[in-house]
Amino acid sequence: MKKILISVILSSHSLSAQYTDFNIVKEVKVKNKGVVVSAHPLASEAGAKVLKMGGNTYDAIVATQYALAVVYPQAGNIGGGGFLVGVKNNGEKFTLDYREIAPKRASRDMYLDKKGKANTDLSQNGRLAVGVPGSVAGFFATLKYCKLSMDQLIQPAIDLAEKGFAITEQEANLLNSNKEYFQKHNQSYIVFVKNVPWKSGDILVQKELAETLKLIQKQGLKGFYEGKTAESLVSEMKKGNGIITLEDLKNYKVAERKALEFDYKGNNVVSMPLPSSGGILLAQMLKMAAYENLEKYQQNSTKAVQIMVEAERRAYADRAEYMGDPAFIDDKTSYLISDDYLKNRWKSFSFTKATLSSEVGKIIKQPKESTETTHISVIDKEGNAAAVTTTLNGLYGSKVVVSGAGFFLNNEMDDFSVKPGVPNMFGAVGGEANSIQPNKRMLSSMTPTIVLKNGKPYMVVGTPGGTTIPTSVYQSIVDVIDFKLNTNISINSPKFHHQWLPEAVAFEKNFPETTIKDLEKLGYRTEKWDQIGRTEMILIDDNGNIHAVADGRGDDSVAVE
Ligand code: GLY
Repeated sequence: MKKILISVILSSHSLSAQYTDFNIVKEVKVKNKGVVVSAHPLASEAGAKVLKMGGNTYDAIVATQYALAVVYPQAGNIGGGGFLVGVKNNGEKFTLDYREIAPKRASRDMYLDKKGKANTDLSQNGRLAVGVPGSVAGFFATLKYCKLSMDQLIQPAIDLAEKGFAITEQEANLLNSNKEYFQKHNQSYIVFVKNVPWKSGDILVQKELAETLKLIQKQGLKGFYEGKTAESLVSEMKKGNGIITLEDLKNYKVAERKALEFDYKGNNVVSMPLPSSGGILLAQMLKMAAYENLEKYQQNSTKAVQIMVEAERRAYADRAEYMGDPAFIDDKTSYLISDDYLKNRWKSFSFTKATLSSEVGKIIKQPKESTETTHISVIDKEGNAAAVTTTLNGLYGSKVVVSGAGFFLNNEMDDFSVKPGVPNMFGAVGGEANSIQPNKRMLSSMTPTIVLKNGKPYMVVGTPGGTTIPTSVYQSIVDVIDFKLNTNISINSPKFHHQWLPEAVAFEKNFPETTIKDLEKLGYRTEKWDQIGRTEMILIDDNGNIHAVADGRGDDSVAVE
């Protein structure tokens, strides 16, 4: 077990030792115990704590999300939204969609100037970028699957916010590099800005956030969507160009959706349906790659990568054309994941050359990328599983903190297609299906996924990474099922990503050069990225042995009951 001890000097705050001296645990093998994997050791610990109190997977999921909102403010949130995919030990599958929605005053062309040019600064930064948050409603919707009370599940987060916790080096660097944006988008003092640079071991105390969490604890849903918190959020909107109203907040509703399920080589994959594109993309990519018997090849070899990239190209072209909030579009999911359709789509594949993106969809423009969001995987000792991916969209979302309430607001409006053909911050382009309409959910890429073998959870997996999310989850599943690699190797091997547009395939910086060179000879454009994804995976073998791994790319950590 790889352990990294973060030791810090106690500050003058009165602190319990657990918040200043904690282990980052990258890998655990256990049996008959619950495990939680998340982006932060203290959040995973909050989940494990409620498991020890007699809670189940869903209790742990709620406690971990609240804790992430405190200790991982760049993506953990109460001001954003997310998706939960659950499989109970009785076989029941369910999903909760607590994605943000467009405010009632939103409109199709709200980010276009008089000449019709898209202003993505407005959809990505500041108050107009904010969608109506769904996370807290999602936590309350999860309660029906829980054993403990909200009072108990929120308490670890209140303690972390009130007493403070030691920030890690990665967090210190992020806070420092975002200082300028925090100052630009917040008129009042916020705890995330200091006169001197943050450093590893500094204590971050969030009193206002603690008070907001206490209001939720006392008043339930109304503690967020009505009363003081809602009023603070709406006042914050009025300090700039924000359009969310009290009515928008009061009317927010979680959607319970039927999980998207499909067979992959005898395993049942359970993932998120629209308004996330994740499940559909995963089904399309896995099925198309299976037409070439992917299991014959090796992970990250030229042929394997070529097959997978070409499957990605075709799936992401469909994302741009057909996918959006199912309440607003003609939902073509069954057709898009059918063999009839996919076999035909795959006919143009050839090992001799790269397919051009223009051959599989209508070309538009060159994008840029960003990789935020966060994922939690949990299994308890009774065999209940959950995968949750939650987001503010960009790092620290809109960068706006609700004054008096202490939490970051999302910039999820940028996940709409602000103008057909104009790439969002992930470089994804879209069309009418994902255009802005009041009360509509913006298309997502989040792909919380549970793979079942003989009806029982086998893999619980997910990752942040914007549009790279489905391709990273795809690679994880292929690594385990086709290439028979273990969890640790799968997660920490270098990844690649292609999304139809741009034409280039992205490779993590330590990706095998020989494969990249071979692909270039076949006509592939390539580029290097520092990092792709931060996958949290739990694998449960036929004998009930649990192997949980937290991605080595960040402070991600496993905690055991
Ligand atoms: N905001 C990232 C996603 O939902 O895909």
